[in-house]
Amino acid sequence: MRREHWRGIIEAYRHLLPIDPQTPVITLFEGNTPLVASRTVGSRIKRDVWFKVEGANPTGSFKDRGMTVAVSRAMQASSRGVICASTGNTAASASAYAARAGLPCVVIVPAGGVAAGKLVQTLAHGATVVAVDGTFDQAGALTRKAAVQFDLTSVNSINPDRIHGQQTVAWEICDTMGEAPDLVALPVGNAGNITALWQGFQAYHGRDVIHRLPRLIGMQAAGAAPLVEGRVIPEPRTLASAIRIGNPASWQKAVDAAKASGGVFHAVDDSEILEAQRLLAEEEGVFAEPASAAGLAGVMRLWAMNRLPPGETVVVVLTGHGLKDADAWSARLPLPARVPPTSEAVAAAIEQAGHSERGR
Ligand code: F0G
Repeated sequence: MRREHWRGIIEAYRHLLPIDPQTPVITLFEGNTPLVASRTVGSRIKRDVWFKVEGANPTGSFKDRGMTVAVSRAMQASSRGVICASTGNTAASASAYAARAGLPCVVIVPAGGVAAGKLVQTLAHGATVVAVDGTFDQAGALTRKAAVQFDLTSVNSINPDRIHGQQTVAWEICDTMGEAPDLVALPVGNAGNITALWQGFQAYHGRDVIHRLPRLIGMQAAGAAPLVEGRVIPEPRTLASAIRIGNPASWQKAVDAAKASGGVFHAVDDSEILEAQRLLAEEEGVFAEPASAAGLAGVMRLWAMNRLPPGETVVVVLTGHGLKDADAWSARLPLPARVPPTSEAVAAAIEQAGHSERGR
């Protein structure tokens, strides 16, 4: 029997999106990502913890949800091409959906500020990549100018179509759980995602699909935490390059979302981010990139500070796949020692790692 297969977020949520019968649907069947119950973290902190694994999207990050809507609408508007500034994931997503649409794509990135996997994706999809000697925030300003100059459609999250599509992560969480969770934790960089999540939960609440609204907890890296410090950070620093952003485009909307939901912004150190990434990989079986792990790092910190009410359901949005930034991980790990190709040497290596032979 043929099974009905998932046809992407536009077909799933067409009635809630700015899509009409004439819109050409440019999709890679994004969305419908796993909502995975925690195996160890939840029992450790005695909360009901779930992971929304956005790295399972076609290009490996949550950006695909907004991109399918933005690129479809750009096609409908007979756009000449798309352009974005990016710390890597938006670039990978924009270039893939542009390739799918047959549209040219330009991305402007901070030189040296993009993880290798993301740059490879973007180049593989045939985008024009301009690497500026500057920050993401400078790349953003230059992109806005170049968009006008070259008559290209901006697919950064200041484009409302991106936000429309990104709401679907909130809708999927509610559709799977049957209600909104108590708390949603996510990393915040340019602040589009937290804006979209709040919009999404509010839309479902307004339609009586859910009967309560979650608190949104936005996590930033300590060296790149403008929303926590309440000031622009001219030279943001963190190993989580995806959220190395000092002046988020959706600043006010993010502040409003966190406040209206009863949530807050928190800063976590790089060491906490790496520890959360390790926990996710080693104990939960989910490989998330460092920026993504910031959400969990924040939940762990709130719990340690006694600021996580008991009995709550917590959803942590894991925004991007760990393979995108393999360097962030491999830098910490020794490569496996080489051994001769004999069963004795292999057995010795296995034993050395703490495994015992049968019957011993
Ligand atoms: N997590 C990952 C993996 C990201 O790539 C980003 C943003 C965020 C979280 C933060 O989301 O910007 O909506 O607050 N990446 C953008 C990019 C900036 O260019 O790929 P946000």
